Amino acid sequence: MASDFAQLVKQQADIVKIIGDYMRLKKAGAQNFSGLCPFHKEKSPSFSVHATRQFFHCFGCGVSGDVFSFIQKIENVSFPESVRFVAQKCGIPLPKREFSSEEEAQEGRQRAKLLELHELATAWFEEQLRSPEGALAREYLSGRGLKPDEIKQFRIGYAPDSFHALRERLQSLADEDTLRLSGLFSFKAQEDGKPGPIYSRFRKRVTFPIANESGRVIAFTARALEAGEKAGPKYLNSPETPLYSKGNILFNLDKARQAIRETSFAVLVEGQMDCISVFLAGVKNVIATSGTAFTEAQVRLLSRYATRIIINFDPDTAGANAAEKSIALLTEEGFEVRVVTLEGGLDPDRYIREHGAQEYMTALRAAKRHSDYLIERARQLFPPSTADAKVKALNFLLPHIKRMPNRITRDEFATDAAQKLGIDSALVREELKQAAAKRRDSLAHAVPTLSEAEKDLLRALAAPVSDQACKAAMAGFDSNESYFEGLTVAPILKQLRHRGDADPMEAIEDPAGRSLLAQALNGEIEPVSAEHVTAALETLRRRYLERRRRELRAAVSEAERNGDTTSVIKLTAEKLALDRELREP
Ligand code: UTP
Ligand code: MN
Repeated sequence: MASDFAQLVKQQADIVKIIGDYMRLKKAGAQNFSGLCPFHKEKSPSFSVHATRQFFHCFGCGVSGDVFSFIQKIENVSFPESVRFVAQKCGIPLPKREFSSEEEAQEGRQRAKLLELHELATAWFEEQLRSPEGALAREYLSGRGLKPDEIKQFRIGYAPDSFHALRERLQSLADEDTLRLSGLFSFKAQEDGKPGPIYSRFRKRVTFPIANESGRVIAFTARALEAGEKAGPKYLNSPETPLYSKGNILFNLDKARQAIRETSFAVLVEGQMDCISVFLAGVKNVIATSGTAFTEAQVRLLSRYATRIIINFDPDTAGANAAEKSIALLTEEGFEVRVVTLEGGLDPDRYIREHGAQEYMTALRAAKRHSDYLIERARQLFPPSTADAKVKALNFLLPHIKRMPNRITRDEFATDAAQKLGIDSALVREELKQAAAKRRDSLAHAVPTLSEAEKDLLRALAAPVSDQACKAAMAGFDSNESYFEGLTVAPILKQLRHRGDADPMEAIEDPAGRSLLAQALNGEIEPVSAEHVTAALETLRRRYLERRRRELRAAVSEAERNGDTTSVIKLTAEKLALDRELREP
């Protein structure tokens, strides 16, 4: 499958380090690391990475593969792009581009082109900010307390008041269709239904680049310098493009992800200016939703890095609603959530400007548990002076209480709510019982476990074919296929035995089989030797003989019942031979 270059890259890449850049991995064995699967929803880790075998596998959803498959999935790129990506990370110089199919080549070229356009646009906007035309924008930014080096750090720029200047800058690099696709331009539909000529989407606006996790610019959000209808919306964003989908991105994650991973803790704000101010105040683990309600995709993205979060949205109604939605999504995913509401109705950006970084840190430290925040919010919305209001307040809280995945915290929340609303806690408990019953129905499926002998054989067959252990296992498998009859591992052993030079993981067809192999490889403490294989084959032989003896015993009884003396004699002789064989050491 893979080219020589890909092989070279794979040998030099440290899969644990590369995957560890995207999620929190904990050491879980000699060569094994585990964490929450980035590819499906889960609360306890079933995703594992094997350091020496250089593969990952999820026991929950069955995805597995090597470092390239991981990058392909997580960065949403083609195989050749993933090879280049990993090569770049490892500092391996790239050969000329190679693609396996024309379609893939096309897609890869398009993405590369769109990234290039965004990079150029970012630099151009930065340039415009420094130009005479950018004076007003510079004034605006300094009025918001941003210093030139800070502006540079976030690559903030200025889109001048021109319909065509950006097109002129970019048109020698891409055809009009590609420029249209980039989202940097707008156009109107013509009467014949075809798209009209393109013109700058962002005009007379301060531009903030939006980067993907690895720091490449993939979109912009741009703030109007003036208020008023003529200026359009305060913030204008790139539309959805092949590079950018708003609900999948967290603003500033590229800069914050290391700090978040290290502390497993993040601060979530609404606006990009909030985010920038908080970051510059020294809180490096801050990200922004960019005004949208938090999406499930964003929660998943964040759960690769953090387990705890402080929500610090605007203290207005929109902010409170967004906070409630985010709390719901995050607690359901098992996040520990706290909420800060800043005094004086200020958003983080203004609070820091008025009170300074120190006081902001103090406010963060005083963040309320999300349950306390919600109870307080319920009391505000429905002051519990009448029975009717109490019921409303409780109804507001119940969905949040039910959502808590942990029974202890759920009970605590319920007790607090009942107490602070002045409601009989038995009533709350009754409501919760029903929710608990529902939860029990959705139990995770179990993966069958393997014996050590089975694992050793799998390990040996997954080793390079030149390995002594692998040779021994192949010979052993070929001459004793009956030992494996009826075992769950049999088809996996067979596929590994005949895999040729394919990657072991890729040689196995079904996800359940890959799970079993991953289970074996992850539990490996030392490399399996030819002696291990001999011992494993011996164990499996004895197990086979025992199985066979049980079968014979049953067959003898059956023959006796039927009065079939000939069979009784024949089967008993066979069984006695087996008994003898099993008595031998
Ligand atoms: P706000 O209106 O609170 O903006 O919207 P802000 O962050 O305080 O902006 P500044 O400080 O005046 O510059 C919160 C967020 O909602 C999104 C933006 O991401 C903004 O930061 N938003 C707001 C839009 O996308 N479009 C808009 O027109 C307004
Ligand atoms: Mn705001």
